[in-house]
Amino acid sequence: MLRIIVLGAAAGGGFPQWNSLGPNCARARAGDPATPSLTQASLAVSANGDDWFLLDAAPELRIQIERTPELHPRVAPRHSPIKGVVLTSADVDRIAGLLTLREGQPLSLYATPKVHAVLDANPVFEVLNREKVARLPLALGTPLNLVPPSGEPSLEVTAFGVPGKVPLWLEGGGPVATDLVGEDVIGLEVRAVGGGPKLVYMPGCAAITPEVMARAAEADVLMLDGTLWTDDELVAAGIAPKTGRRMGHVSMSGPDGSIAALAGITRPRRYFIHINNSNPVLAEDAPERRVLEAAGWRVARDGMIIDL
Ligand code: MLT
Ligand code: MN
Repeated sequence: MLRIIVLGAAAGGGFPQWNSLGPNCARARAGDPATPSLTQASLAVSANGDDWFLLDAAPELRIQIERTPELHPRVAPRHSPIKGVVLTSADVDRIAGLLTLREGQPLSLYATPKVHAVLDANPVFEVLNREKVARLPLALGTPLNLVPPSGEPSLEVTAFGVPGKVPLWLEGGGPVATDLVGEDVIGLEVRAVGGGPKLVYMPGCAAITPEVMARAAEADVLMLDGTLWTDDELVAAGIAPKTGRRMGHVSMSGPDGSIAALAGITRPRRYFIHINNSNPVLAEDAPERRVLEAAGWRVARDGMIIDL
């Protein structure tokens, strides 16, 4: 058994984004049921219903936990079914929620050594008491049991490098490589210890490489970077000078887009996650949404539960 709860499905900024009056955000803010609001991307995963690991820690983590009964404390005075967190990068929308978990609750925090080095270099994360929150390394390509602070492991994870870049806030002023495959941006394969159906989670992915395709093809459920519909979406809307490629995100549409590149993949249930507020597919009545669904994809939304 594997239960996946979508805690948040939006890209950085959430939906609606605080400073956006784009058409999607205006509709969401007006309460249009075709454009439901979304918090920033994160999943909760469990193989036994009792022990949960978070995949990424979004800035809205406190509210995500409160609206998810599976993640509420079960024993007074202090308890949490959340046994740990696995990070896929050091982007703000992946790590800011760690600051919400600062109440001395034992946790296992998994990340690549490079992402751990980023956290180690930021003293604010010392609010996670190292005597209670173990910082544990993820080695790429090697299956690893996620060890809870006490009790037996129930989930196994395999981290793999995905094309991407350093976090926006660490770019500095110089040229930025956007197709690094290494410890900056990773994908996660998650299954129960001992085997069974597999989730593949890649909320940031700059290009569909042969390895990305192979990992995706073996999934039972795929959650893939759905930031933008078109590569120049932000440029065309006059929002920002950056293309999706420059931001480290493959687009959904177009000949190099993820829908075309993964057209041959039929095994997994396929969801887009980390969807930017500018993306037209956020509107259930958009023609782009129909194109996406006709190609066998779905748009993840907050609160969605997937049982495998
Ligand atoms: C991204 O996905 O590109 C980042 O979340 C950008 C950011 O840090 O705002
Ligand atoms: Mn992001």
